[in-house]
Amino acid sequence: MPVVKDFFIALSNNKFMNESAKKMGPALGAKKVVAGVDIDSTIDTVERLNMRGISCTLDNLGEFVTTRHEALEAQQNIVEIMRRNYNANIDAHVSIKLTQLGINIDKEFAYKNTREILLKAHEYGNTFVNIDAEKYEDLVGITETLDRLKGEFKNVGTVIQAYLYDAMNIMNKYQDVRLRLVKGAYKEGPNVAFQTKEEIDSNYIKLIEHRLLTSNAFTSIATHDHNIINHVKQFVKDHHISNDQFEFQMLYGFRTDYAYELAGEGYNFTMYVPFGEDWFGYFMRRLAERPQNLNLILLDIFNK
Ligand code: FDA
Repeated sequence: MPVVKDFFIALSNNKFMNESAKKMGPALGAKKVVAGVDIDSTIDTVERLNMRGISCTLDNLGEFVTTRHEALEAQQNIVEIMRRNYNANIDAHVSIKLTQLGINIDKEFAYKNTREILLKAHEYGNTFVNIDAEKYEDLVGITETLDRLKGEFKNVGTVIQAYLYDAMNIMNKYQDVRLRLVKGAYKEGPNVAFQTKEEIDSNYIKLIEHRLLTSNAFTSIATHDHNIINHVKQFVKDHHISNDQFEFQMLYGFRTDYAYELAGEGYNFTMYVPFGEDWFGYFMRRLAERPQNLNLILLDIFNK
């Protein structure tokens, strides 16, 4: 349903809607997929998930960062999350977005902000820092930043989007880097990205298999797709790939029972836990990729 997808992606990019939603607080079902507005409630969520054998990656949501002040604030918030995680002794790391750290303001400034986060991560148990993949227009900035940081720090990684024609080449550049493999969440044109589900799924499987066979670095397979998860389970069995080499990841609030099941079967599992006031864009992207997520809104209305 491309029209529905376009509609929600357009909403996710609408600054006025994002700002208004921020003032309103999580609503319209977003509470089911956003862990809370502050770090305290989020730490409670992480503790509950840790008890089920699930690790977490925390994303302090933030869209439309346009000033250096906002970017520095985002950087300080991320450092504070790492400090709180460390002090609470929970199993959680952070996922960051370079747009939030000012990459569209000044690449050098965003690099310094990211480096500062990695220096602090060293103080807080050398916790892992994942750089999320964003729109294609930000890809060069993201990879250039990672290229400068990966020699100095071992605890940094990024995300490969299978919808990109160039995904295999980008992935192969990062043989020694921890990577998360995803299908891709943004709207990209046919000049850079596959457009059909069949093509994206097929490229996703190709990337996963190639990565698991050729790299010793840790790989996160981030999907809610049971067909792909079942395929990976069989593939690692057939190729004697150890469970220590990879994990599954899902987004908080989606297929939670399935997540518990996979963790219970002994697979490493990490839940991506977004939190914060800036929930609207994130929630709209989730509706764009799966309009059935609208059920979350109905549940919210009927639960009142
Ligand atoms: P997809 O949405 O294609 O669904 C495939 C099938 O799985 C469906 O047809 C259905 O059968 C089943 N299914 C899916 N969701 C279900 C549900 N809730 N309930 C029941 N069945 C369901 N993107 C990006 O561009 N940059 C990033 O940094 C990240 N990071 C990231 C982290 C994590 C942990 C995850 C899980 C995802 C991301 N993504 C991302 C998003 C990713 O690119 C992608 O948009 C979504 O994961 C949706 O694709 P899926 O692979 O989940 O399957």
